[in-house]
Amino acid sequence: MRDLFEKIYRDKGPLGKWASQAEGYFVFPKLEGHISNRMKFQGKDVITWSINDYLGLANHPEVRKVDAEAGAAYGSAYPMGARMMSGHTDLHEKLQNELAEFVNKESAYLLNFGYQGMVSTIDALVSKNDIIVYDVDSHACIIDGVRLHMGKRFTYRHNDIVSLEKNLDRATKMAEQTGGGILVISEGVFGMRGEQGILKEIVALKEKYNFRFLVDDAHGFGTLGKTGAGAGEEQGVQDDIDVYFATFAKAMAGTGAFIAADKEIIDYLKYNLRSQMFAKSLQMQLVVGGLKRLEMLKTMPELKNNLWNIVNALQSGLKERGFDIGTTQSCVTPVFLKGSIPEAMALVRDLRENYGIFCSIVVYPVVPKGIILLRMIPTATHTLQDVEETLNAFSAIRERLLNGTYKRLSAAVTAAMGE
Ligand SMILES: Cc1ncc(COP(=O)(O)O)c(C=O)c1O
Repeated sequence: MRDLFEKIYRDKGPLGKWASQAEGYFVFPKLEGHISNRMKFQGKDVITWSINDYLGLANHPEVRKVDAEAGAAYGSAYPMGARMMSGHTDLHEKLQNELAEFVNKESAYLLNFGYQGMVSTIDALVSKNDIIVYDVDSHACIIDGVRLHMGKRFTYRHNDIVSLEKNLDRATKMAEQTGGGILVISEGVFGMRGEQGILKEIVALKEKYNFRFLVDDAHGFGTLGKTGAGAGEEQGVQDDIDVYFATFAKAMAGTGAFIAADKEIIDYLKYNLRSQMFAKSLQMQLVVGGLKRLEMLKTMPELKNNLWNIVNALQSGLKERGFDIGTTQSCVTPVFLKGSIPEAMALVRDLRENYGIFCSIVVYPVVPKGIILLRMIPTATHTLQDVEETLNAFSAIRERLLNGTYKRLSAAVTAAMGE
């Protein structure tokens, strides 16, 4: 018999094997200073394009004030216990009611973390006779929720309506045998490449198929739609989303999340979401802070306007300079380049050290081998000056990538890794 840890000693995994070169710099970097468009990285000033603070609320003076007052009033422990037992308050209810109204649903329920909340939502919505059909590019929280499912599941090709229909045909036949129902899951915005989920096309299939629709709108909430209510509002199909999910970790610049649906569904979920029934309630400071952020989201449209001015300037600037930004339909701004992982490391080091640009780097296995994805998150705190500096830096690094500079710089790393 083998020691359980043997495989860990032998193989650190596709990302873990780069730890000695990457940790502290490319992964687990420490950004310092207040969360904003400009922060410090290893003592240097950098323009930050890697923080999901879409509306610039994280360090907004009004938000900071309310957070501090709530901290002083409640401390960081309150309330103690799970919602069902001893962790329920009027303010939790108030935030739920306001969120439900904002996303145009009858009812809402707070989740202490989005990830666990989504896992439990999927778990609670299906039983073993039911069938899940979900987009193959789904976020890990959806995949992990599906993993708990004891019955059948099918993936459809990313945003591919033909593939979805094929799988709905299969799922329908199967559900007729098992006596179960069908849950379709999509994201409102796919966070890596920025495409919106094809929500409108999916809900149109309700005419032909019998299914319920769950949408994870982590990146759409607060950034899309006329009022900021998300991808469902943007595509005019919010009413046809049966269960709407969003996190506070992005536009709301907080922690926590919520689901919203018809009252009867939320009433059921609040008695069946294991990650909420058996875990501590959302901390009061986050609830009070959530109320403030939601109020600002509703009453300060200029935040979203500022965000989109930056998004439009960045995305059109990149396109004008011939960069491949894929098919984004949201604030998420990917830039696709071709190169190896060591080249990507040299390139990002150059961007950070010599141009003061900090963005996330995504490589295989998240994207195909040979592709470097630089992922940028514009925010309402960025300026047109930030955009201009960034565009100039990107033009410079592309030239060096093409003329082989990064290949030469990375040769030592490549040799050391035996790549
Ligand atoms: C699409 C998506 N769903 C869910 C989550 C998880 O949310 P949380 O950070 O609140 O756990 C994230 C990341 O924050 C996300 O990007």
